[in-house]
Amino acid sequence: MDRNLALEFVRVTEAAAISAAEWIGRGDKKAADQAAVDAMRSRLNQVDFSGEVVIGEGAKDEAPMLYTGEKVGCGKEIEMELAVDPLECTDSVAHGRYNAIAVIVTGAKNTLLKAPDTYMEKIAVGQEGAEAIDLNAPIKQNLQKVAKATGKDIREITVIVLDRPRHEKLIGQIREAGARVRLITDGDVAAAITTCNPDSGIDLLMGTGGSTEAVLAAAAVKIMGGQLLARLKPRNDQDLQEIKKAGIKNLNKVYSVNDLAKGKQLTFTATGVIDGPLLSGVVFEKAKIITHSLVIRGVSGTIRYITTHHRTTRL
Ligand code: FBP
Repeated sequence: MDRNLALEFVRVTEAAAISAAEWIGRGDKKAADQAAVDAMRSRLNQVDFSGEVVIGEGAKDEAPMLYTGEKVGCGKEIEMELAVDPLECTDSVAHGRYNAIAVIVTGAKNTLLKAPDTYMEKIAVGQEGAEAIDLNAPIKQNLQKVAKATGKDIREITVIVLDRPRHEKLIGQIREAGARVRLITDGDVAAAITTCNPDSGIDLLMGTGGSTEAVLAAAAVKIMGGQLLARLKPRNDQDLQEIKKAGIKNLNKVYSVNDLAKGKQLTFTATGVIDGPLLSGVVFEKAKIITHSLVIRGVSGTIRYITTHHRTTRL
């Protein structure tokens, strides 16, 4: 893959993040999402490549832009598939909360899992604990093994969990085992990736969240040397139908990062909309807008943190 292309995608996530950030705290999540979608789509179509959205805003009849199957890019030469979330954490933006990002993942053709839009049970961890986790093992055993692998006492282990009633039992089990729980209102993509940053103070992500979010996070976690294990967790009959439509028969299958995002030709690009554990949000100043982004390339394993100052007045 062209090296420069990964950097081109930063311009795209920056534009989506800035557009979404205009809507922080205005109570309108649809408008925030639409602004991010419009900006991401129009910028993607200025990039010289040929892409197909495999995870996006939904089916063509539900989402007119960045729908599953939409072709993006203005070139023919470099063919790749994309998983996008122009605004991960729409609610957080509407309510001015925490941890919203704009994300693009790319891979070679047929490498990103075309995950049906349902839930997945997830466990994610950074490099040191990558071999220690098992989605079929009890919570306590996972925590003990990760503590051993990272040379920590179990009381020093922190698990990030989405604050949802469905996680009440999980939270109890983590605390009972002696570890800490850090609750977040939204955003398990950033939360999963944060486990790969040893300075973050977050050791694991546990709990159930969006299935498409698992694919987005897996690309970054994989390149950063960590592990994310996930298993489909349909909420209702409609989810079961979606899973069937996607041709998935085994509901017990545990997907690893290599199943969710195959190969090495992967890129992960994200720009913070609102401050979170992974990235700082958009800052509006008098004459400039400042954005904070993360660009990760699978082939080289390079992790770039990019701070950009966007001038809003002409010289
Ligand atoms: P959206 O931007 O689509 O609202 O996703 C935010 C999010 O918190 C994800 O990070 C997470 O995977 C999912 O929602 C959890 O779903 P739910 O809010 O239904 O528990």
